[in-house]
Amino acid sequence: MTFLRGYRFRVSLVAIFIIISLAFYQFEFVKFTKYEDEFYSKFVEIDTVMAQDPQSLLPCNVDSWNNVTLEDISFKDVRADWKNKSLGSWQNFEDAALRPISAFVYEHEIVVVTAKYIKFDKPLYCRYFDCNHVELHGTAFQSTMFPYSAVYCARRAGANHITVTRTIDEPVEFTVPIVNRVLSKPVHEISVCVGPIYGAESRWLEIVETTEHHILMGIQHFYFTVFNQVDTYTRRLLDDYEQSGNAKVTVIQTEYKHMDWMFHMMQITDCFFRARHHSKWILNVDIDERLVMTRMPLHSYLRTIPEDVGDISFSSKRVQRTENLPSIFTPEGFEREVLFTKYQKTNSMSYMEMKVLLRPDKTEGLFYHWVWARYPGFRTMMIPKTVGYVRHYRTTLPSLAANWVKSKLVTDNLRNNRLDARFEEKLMVAVVRRLKLVYEQRDMWCEEIPWWILRMMERSNYNCIWKVNGTRFA
Ligand SMILES: *[C@@H]1O[C@H](CO)[C@@H](O)[C@H](O)[C@H]1NC(C)=O
Ligand SMILES: *[C@@H]1O[C@H](CO)[C@@H](O)[C@H](O)[C@H]1NC(C)=O
Ligand SMILES: *[C@@H]1O[C@H](CO)[C@@H](O)[C@H](O)[C@H]1NC(C)=O
Repeated sequence: MTFLRGYRFRVSLVAIFIIISLAFYQFEFVKFTKYEDEFYSKFVEIDTVMAQDPQSLLPCNVDSWNNVTLEDISFKDVRADWKNKSLGSWQNFEDAALRPISAFVYEHEIVVVTAKYIKFDKPLYCRYFDCNHVELHGTAFQSTMFPYSAVYCARRAGANHITVTRTIDEPVEFTVPIVNRVLSKPVHEISVCVGPIYGAESRWLEIVETTEHHILMGIQHFYFTVFNQVDTYTRRLLDDYEQSGNAKVTVIQTEYKHMDWMFHMMQITDCFFRARHHSKWILNVDIDERLVMTRMPLHSYLRTIPEDVGDISFSSKRVQRTENLPSIFTPEGFEREVLFTKYQKTNSMSYMEMKVLLRPDKTEGLFYHWVWARYPGFRTMMIPKTVGYVRHYRTTLPSLAANWVKSKLVTDNLRNNRLDARFEEKLMVAVVRRLKLVYEQRDMWCEEIPWWILRMMERSNYNCIWKVNGTRFA
């Protein structure tokens, strides 16, 4: 009985407790939600995050071609002699950040191209990083900037990323990947290092004409360089050349808001080292300049060039471009718009403005389109005017030194000149084919999408148009 009474008593106590807490809960609940809203709007919940320590990543796989450490760089004494003659330096952009743009590993060294010029009497340090972006401890190499914005660094086994700093151990802000140029032979026989593309004028027409022209000359690879950015219309064309395996587009960004002709040497230097051992020959021209071979095709001619020639120079003639480039491709009347039919007023050929075809593994010290240094045993050669020349479709509109055509020497000697009809026709076909491929675009038709896919999402997501009546699926 006592047990029973005790049991009832306990049940009642529990019941009372439940009722009171329910009432309390109900009562408090109203107050608590208000309080809760306020509380949670101010309260910040903290999730613990486990960051990865790069030091504890799996060790990098080092391919045998990259498992090489060398004490020093090649041709050190040759370069010292050039420096001694005060060659290969360019004082400019004094407050620019010391930041790498690109880096390439060759058999005997690594070269880092930077966005700054520092005189070669100042020490700089190459700093190496593995595939995990972890610095290879104790491997820094002391070097200097030469030529121009480039720094030669000794090779380090397992180096995948690199930078250059002024002191041996300062914190590193920028690194770039090291591009493999340890190749048994060049990938391309001849490529074009195309002068920088920048500015507001839409340059697609110049790009497509010059590129297709050079493809017909037997040059199938192009190194394009964009400073900052180009208009999206032009970018489509560059992307297409890259997509079709004809080009590598390099975009150079620095801290400067505007990059234009002043940075031309940066493109020259980057392209020179990018092409070294990747292309046997490079033609260094701007986007408005086209190599014209007049006696025999380019490859046949190059086979006649002695092996000890490091660079050859072509003379050039200028064709006046008097109007702006068209902003978009319109197939109707296009054949009258292309530069090689539209412009014919040409000055006589001269060696005043030479354009160079060079071997980047045998030369060094490229100042714009001019080579001033070769490795021992290599020489330069001048190409006779009858063999070929560079045709320069130079604008007379406001631009760099656009007053060239005002000179009496030029105006008195202008004549009508164009390329032979068979070549012009081939070039026209190639240009139009490429432009149609790139710029002839259409809407997606809803009819070409299976109905069950059209029912999966809200209509506005499909961006399609009914072919039957031209209305948008919305
Ligand atoms: C790299 O080379 C060293 C000798 O120089 C050798 O001991 C090592 O096994 C090599 N590593 C790889 C990944 O090939
Ligand atoms: C640099 O020039 C000086 C004198 O003009 C000469 O003594 C020195 O040997 C030269 N150094 C090199 C590396 O050519
Ligand atoms: C256009 O055609 C589609 C498919 O036949 C139809 O669903 C749509 O209602 C039509 N729109 C108009 C405005 O006629």
